[in-house]
Amino acid sequence: SVADSVRIVEVGPRDGLQNEAAHLSIENRVAFIEKLLDAGLATVEAGSFVSPRWVPQMQGTDEVLRRLAGVGAGLPVLVPNLTGLEAAIAAGAREVAVFVAASEAFSLRNLNCSVDDSLERYAPVIERALEAGLAVRGYISCVLGCPYEGRVPSAAVVWLAARLHRQGCYEVSLGDTIGVGTPMQARTLVREVAGELPVGALAVHFHDTYGQALANIYGALQEGVSVVDASAGGLGGCPYARGASGNVATEAVVYMLDGMGVRTGVALPKLIEAVRFVHARLGREPASAVYRAMTAR
Ligand code: HMG
Ligand code: MG
Repeated sequence: SVADSVRIVEVGPRDGLQNEAAHLSIENRVAFIEKLLDAGLATVEAGSFVSPRWVPQMQGTDEVLRRLAGVGAGLPVLVPNLTGLEAAIAAGAREVAVFVAASEAFSLRNLNCSVDDSLERYAPVIERALEAGLAVRGYISCVLGCPYEGRVPSAAVVWLAARLHRQGCYEVSLGDTIGVGTPMQARTLVREVAGELPVGALAVHFHDTYGQALANIYGALQEGVSVVDASAGGLGGCPYARGASGNVATEAVVYMLDGMGVRTGVALPKLIEAVRFVHARLGREPASAVYRAMTAR
């Protein structure tokens, strides 16, 4: 049955902004995050400690974290290796996220190494993070399809999810990086993964390329999932997945869950204001239907 409340992990300031052509200033990134927190989002992914040559948009995440020290909310950041982890710790991060892929070709593009090598590289990263008292979240990309390899066997996803959980990730987020999945596939995958680890340790992360994200989330909720990643305004995409659009819009998820009587703790009007704010800085209109409906006049 569907959970009474859902925790939304807002990924707009990271997954969203990492793929925008316009690079936002530190001030604007901090202000965007503050507006999201003010809207009631308890977890806001604040950025990533990756190579600035690979993803220049996320440069300065250390400064973003420093300016937000003291907000007392969950502000996870992505780290690809020990270099990133040490920088995150130095900037005051309390939670980091590691990311692996269920397909070899995507792993090579995104992390410049094979899936096995990424797990080997991450083992000491996770260990060190846990020792330092940080929480570690794990992402798996391409769970319902890969831009280079096409179909991805669910067994690979199940195996990776179990492994990340065993290594100490308190939560594993299943990512449909290119947004190709459909609801029954999403549901079946969640059920299979939940056969190996507690469903409470699972999150879903749908991009909306084919407009299926909300339906996929609905399917995952039926399987007992209660953590959903989303991006304000449906910002972003993925730099290593051409044609992929942004994550499901946070306001779409909140609107659907409000209608279902599922608590999120998020105030829609304040969230809409955060969406307006960031898109004005990016110089473009939000793609989100809920935003358009709520701001139509
Ligand atoms: P590499 O070139 O193989 O790494 O990149 P390297 O160790 O050989 O280092 C190369 C250079 O990068 C060196 O600098 C390092 O110092 C530097 P140089 O000597 O050439 O001047 N470097 C770093 N700098 C800053 N921070 C670091 C760092 N590490 C090395 N942490 C690497 C390997 C993993 C670093 C690179 O491939 C990388 O940064 N990748 C990040 C890719 C990324 O951010 N992808 C997007 C996020 S994942 C995602 O969006 C999916 C998700 O949303 C879920 C879903 O939708 O599926 C999570
Ligand atoms: Mg993503």
